Amino acid sequence: MKIVESPHEAYAHIDHWRRDGLRIGLVPTMGALHEGHLALVRQSRQECDVTAATIFVNPTQFGPHEDYAQYPRTPEADFQALSELDVDLLFVPPQAKLYSEGFSTYIHPPAIAEPLEGVCRPDHFRGVATIVLKLFHILPATVAYFGQKDYQQLAVIRRLVEDLDVPIRVVGCETVREPDGLAMSSRNRYLSPAERQAALSLWAALTTVKELFGAGTDQVAELEKAMEQTLYERGANRIDYARVVDCDSLQTLGRVDRPAVALIAAYVGATRLIDNILLGERGA
Ligand code: PAF
Repeated sequence: MKIVESPHEAYAHIDHWRRDGLRIGLVPTMGALHEGHLALVRQSRQECDVTAATIFVNPTQFGPHEDYAQYPRTPEADFQALSELDVDLLFVPPQAKLYSEGFSTYIHPPAIAEPLEGVCRPDHFRGVATIVLKLFHILPATVAYFGQKDYQQLAVIRRLVEDLDVPIRVVGCETVREPDGLAMSSRNRYLSPAERQAALSLWAALTTVKELFGAGTDQVAELEKAMEQTLYERGANRIDYARVVDCDSLQTLGRVDRPAVALIAAYVGATRLIDNILLGERGA
């Protein structure tokens, strides 16, 4: 595995592979890798000739009071995991290489960034859209892989690619869960043993809503109330949102009369966790 820090060097590798007509997979990450990230890498390895990964904790997607400084950084373990999976290229830029002095150009994210995370984390998707587009320029791969746990992020990236004619295919990969249902997340490392138990409240709320919907409840207010109740009962201490919305537009629904997604952002202790489940035709 070739590890590069310079955008020019990273571009040169991709450019070389493109000239050779290779299918290039890209897995952008912020490191602190877990099985969810490794599943993206495995999928890329299966579907592409070469795979590039990136590790960069992107400061512009964190709010002023968020966990940028504490965000877990585990470079040695990450390098080892990626090299064991035979990743061909790893791009690990220092911050100054991506945000040089005077940096002031940002992507205004699409409308789908506005609800949910957009309300709770106002500049988050501006930072995500900006860094993802930068990475797509530096590493113009054939396919880019993202996890569906970050459901709205995936929708924002798909829209960005479509709106700005970025010639990269975006693939969303299923959320990888612990055996008890907790969605894998780099932030799970923050949880104490008691909080780890309480974090199951998200999956409990999502499975509750799925069961209720399966049993015929289609009123969104009822479904959302059940999610909130389960979240609090099972140990979440604050809910940013627990919503059932249209799975494509993320717009509010009165009843689930089309494919929908239930999305949660909730706190367990000081840790903010997100998760989601599809309801309706596109749901399992
Ligand atoms: O999902 C993430 O890890 C990040 O938001 C991403 C897409 C790598 C951009 O920093």
